[in-house]
Amino acid sequence: MGVEVLETAAHCRALLDGERAAGRTVGLVPTMGALHAGHVSLLARARAECDVVAVSIFVNPLQFGDPEDIAHYPRTLEHDLVVCAEKGADVVFAPPVAEMYPSWPEAPATAVTVGGVSEAWEGASRPGHFDGVANVVAKLFSIAGPCRAYFGEKDFQQLAVVRRLAADLVLPVEVVGCPTVREADGLALSSRNVRLSPEERRAAAVLFRALSAAQASVTGGLRSGCAVAQVMRDAVALEPLVRLDYAAAVDAESLAEVDEVSDPSSVRLLIAAVVGRVRLIDNAPALAETELSEHGRPVRHLERIG
Ligand code: PAF
Repeated sequence: MGVEVLETAAHCRALLDGERAAGRTVGLVPTMGALHAGHVSLLARARAECDVVAVSIFVNPLQFGDPEDIAHYPRTLEHDLVVCAEKGADVVFAPPVAEMYPSWPEAPATAVTVGGVSEAWEGASRPGHFDGVANVVAKLFSIAGPCRAYFGEKDFQQLAVVRRLAADLVLPVEVVGCPTVREADGLALSSRNVRLSPEERRAAAVLFRALSAAQASVTGGLRSGCAVAQVMRDAVALEPLVRLDYAAAVDAESLAEVDEVSDPSSVRLLIAAVVGRVRLIDNAPALAETELSEHGRPVRHLERIG
């Protein structure tokens, strides 16, 4: 079938229910549009693993605290529909705000809050952000029904919040995390990158360099969480156009800061910074991915950043 573009929850639910009734599995790729190669990688994974692929495109006003941020968020629906068609999506769910939040600009009366993993880092810097994400994702999961849902690891904390939400509410959705897609200089793809000036775009690659330097320090034996975070801070300090928000070594599940990187495979490095007027986030495993020899020893680095 070609791409079906739907604007109402009822149509989307009916179509996906029909597919499941016919024995087909559903993959959901939730997005806010402005699709780039990172989204395309989610779509490709969903395409490979599911019979029917639905992409949602909705710039969710509930998750933006800063009015300037939502006002400048890129909106490229026509281009996004072409990308979805070319990359094999079957359904695009692109509801207007009134469909998702009939009382808008009054916030909906029912709200979901995910505690714990949502509180630090982005949660602290962007109060209310993860409440907005949790609410829209809960609603999208309810509309889509039983499915696999694909999220990028680039938003590592968001992925943790969504996993918690699905587990705690026993939603019939398998949450699948997919690796970050990067530019040649390491900058993680983000819809916000188009708002960087050429100078800022060049400077933004320092986030990747900071993560790589921290990984190298862990590979070299550094084990203090604080010291590893300091390696990232020192790297970012070399770039005057970039203002660091936070850099931390955290437990990959709880996202709590670690004192000791005793088991590097369970530690994630998080970083956030503002470049010009654009807030960027990135993350990586504490230990660069390695290939193991037949004796179980790392023999060479395959990929510096996951
Ligand atoms: O990652 C995003 O694009 C958004 O936060 C999401 C998950 C689509 C919810 O609006």
